[in-house]
Amino acid sequence: MSEIITGPRPLLAQPWPAGAGPFAGQVAIVTGSESGIGRETARALCAAGAAVVLNGRNAERLEHTRQSFADAGLTVVSCVADVTDYASCERLVAAAIQAFGRLDVLITNASISQRAYFADMQPEVFQRVFDSNVYGSVYPLKAALPHLIRTRGSVTFISSISALNGMPSGSAYCAGKAALSNLAHTLRLELDHTGVHFGVVHIGFTQNDADKRVLDAAGQPVLIAHRPPRWQKTQAGVAAIILRHIRRRRKRTVISVLGKLIVLLHTFFPRLGDWIVLTTTRRLRHFYE
Ligand SMILES: NC(=O)c1ccc[n+]([C@@H]2O[C@H](COP(=O)([O-])OP(=O)(O)OC[C@H]3O[C@@H](n4cnc5c(N)ncnc54)[C@H](OP(=O)(O)O)[C@@H]3O)[C@@H](O)[C@H]2O)c1
Repeated sequence: MSEIITGPRPLLAQPWPAGAGPFAGQVAIVTGSESGIGRETARALCAAGAAVVLNGRNAERLEHTRQSFADAGLTVVSCVADVTDYASCERLVAAAIQAFGRLDVLITNASISQRAYFADMQPEVFQRVFDSNVYGSVYPLKAALPHLIRTRGSVTFISSISALNGMPSGSAYCAGKAALSNLAHTLRLELDHTGVHFGVVHIGFTQNDADKRVLDAAGQPVLIAHRPPRWQKTQAGVAAIILRHIRRRRKRTVISVLGKLIVLLHTFFPRLGDWIVLTTTRRLRHFYE
């Protein structure tokens, strides 16, 4: 996989021109941050004093995002890397260390979603969606872990309310996001002595970039299903919640009233939860598809 680092590289590892704020002096990698929630989370981290490594697979779009951050005086570099490729993740982490000398925060946000029923899905499409959500978190973490242990840093897996309950037309995405919860739990137990924070943020419906695409059953990029705008949080609002989750080193943050309702139903009234999903799937098919 190709990899570039662009933008001014500080002469000294530290101090870089970090501003004041709760993340002052810290260095963060946000995967999949050339667009959407990742981009706004990176922006919020910079505004809170962090130096950030931006990431994505598309060099042109990533450079556009990096330039807009640099123009705003934010401390960023960028690294093109496919997070489902371990060697690329090693280069992504090396980019952070090379530019800023340390790593405190890893947010695994990169993800591919789907709009396809399991029975119709090509096996390789299932694998692409699943891998982006599972190995797209595992590989960056594996590469970053020694540096995060050094700083007693923080790891946040960006998940979805779809991980809290099954969702028709989301099989690989739901399965991948759900796997992250158990991974985080296991790592909390296994690596307790390191002081590294492992948390999961379950995001609910959020405003999307106009050009966001998900995969259909044949692996073609298609528009995401329509969700009523009044149900959607802003990307900046979600970013603020992610930063609070990291500052408080929370194990789990569930965003939105719908997310909290799903947790309640899934835990205490699972049959009612299934009935609601099955009924709405029949009556509001467009909501899922
Ligand atoms: N938006 C929502 O309503 C919502 C709801 C629940 C959860 N979430 C979660 O929030 C996170 C962000 O979602 P979003 O809506 O902001 O999505 P998005 O706009 O599609 O952004 C995803 C980003 O990930 C990058 N990416 C995808 N695969 C990658 C890979 N293998 N390696 C590196 N980068 C990769 C994409 O860039 P390239 O294509 O250039 O690589 C893109 O920048 C995801 O984890 C998603 O599951 C979102």
